[in-house]
Amino acid sequence: MRESMIYATYDQFLKRDRLLPKHELLVIMPSCILVLLIFCGCAAAEPARFDGHKVLQIVPHTTTELENVLALHDLYNLDVWRHPRKHNYSMDVYVEPEKLQPVLTALKDIGADVKIWIDDLQKLIDAERQPSRRRTHVPSQTQRNASLFDHFRFNRFADIKKYLNDVVTLTQSMSTVNASLVKIGDTYLSNEILLLKISRGDGRARPSIFIDGGIHAREWIAPATVLYFIRELVNGGVDDYASQLLDKFDWYLAPVLNPDGYEYSHTNYRLWRKNRVDNGRNCHGTDLNRNFGHNWNPAIGGSTNVCSDVYSGKSAFSEAESRAVESFILNNNKDMIAYLTYHSYGEMWLYPWGYTSALPVDWQDLDSAAKTATSALSELYGTQYLVGSSTNVLYSAAGGSDDWAKGDAGVKYSYTIELRDTGAHGFVLPEDQIRPNGEESWRALRVLALSLSTTRH
Ligand code: ARG
Ligand code: ZN
Repeated sequence: MRESMIYATYDQFLKRDRLLPKHELLVIMPSCILVLLIFCGCAAAEPARFDGHKVLQIVPHTTTELENVLALHDLYNLDVWRHPRKHNYSMDVYVEPEKLQPVLTALKDIGADVKIWIDDLQKLIDAERQPSRRRTHVPSQTQRNASLFDHFRFNRFADIKKYLNDVVTLTQSMSTVNASLVKIGDTYLSNEILLLKISRGDGRARPSIFIDGGIHAREWIAPATVLYFIRELVNGGVDDYASQLLDKFDWYLAPVLNPDGYEYSHTNYRLWRKNRVDNGRNCHGTDLNRNFGHNWNPAIGGSTNVCSDVYSGKSAFSEAESRAVESFILNNNKDMIAYLTYHSYGEMWLYPWGYTSALPVDWQDLDSAAKTATSALSELYGTQYLVGSSTNVLYSAAGGSDDWAKGDAGVKYSYTIELRDTGAHGFVLPEDQIRPNGEESWRALRVLALSLSTTRH
């Protein structure tokens, strides 16, 4: 019963569920009840499948072509995975099988170049987890501690929580580092929003750096990266960096800001982006990165449509997750020097503003610090990050956490980091990239932090 028809307008498309004629409802209702009964009978429903779903790479050659492609995306409610900077730059667009033919035909009419970039999303999802890394045995209760957590797989929220608690326990027996866990909020589905503070624990307050991941549910590499940072800061490496970084800063790390969405992307729908609030109209979720309160405006890169993937929420800070960040930072921003929010994908270090193409007065400071960080990053595996303001590099979108951290909370070095890759896997990055991505990102972070610690502000 999927849409195979073409909708004349976007609005009509959104109303599709309510356009079913009565006789179809009569057929659907009893089968829904049957499906519900079957669901209740099993322990867990299978996540949605994506067989034959594709990601197209489109290159519009002119601004008109670009506008036409964007209009097409509205018409078919397409999910643009990666936006083009301007014409002649490529964009990645996710297309369900039933929309493929009409979309390809329309793109041909428009004249844009198209190639099939990801041919079968389900194949990537199946390959995302490495079977060889899957746990073959469950460690006993006493063995289950921080050192047994597997950083190199995409963990469920319950396991991540367990790890964070284990890190706290572990540091209790260490004299050089102290970790404490703070619940900064509760989500709509009553999950805890957790933040780990890592410091020397000598009673001396230091300038701080705030790091979060997982604002967007499907960007699994982001929580994995923040967890990698936690590992490095706590365990120290073979080098002495962790120790230097703890001498200079207090660290606040919130690896999974959107646990409701994160879990939903594991259990039900791999491509979920927002949180999971019930908006009515059978639609769920607010895009948390459109919900922060610096020049909040759904008309700029967001939406007032509750079903949209970029729904900005009822008002600025209408969501528990964004409010949790807001109140924690406002209570702890006295000497907060950097705010780093990890997303994927695209390989970019972005700084404000997202709501306007204008730049902050001190943009050159942000630009050069980001370039120092990304050039260190590239030394390891040659990964080249793009640096710039998010509006100029990507697209304008108001309500981002980075804009708020800088604009309202006064945190000077505020960045959105778009991790690997550039589209070959998109959001479905395989687990074997967690390590190289973590290593290079850690290198960028420590170079940034050390460079900030030596500059006078
Ligand atoms: N991919 C991110 C998003 O769409 C980029 C955010 C950049 N920052 C911003 N304030 N727009 O949410
Ligand atoms: Zn994101």
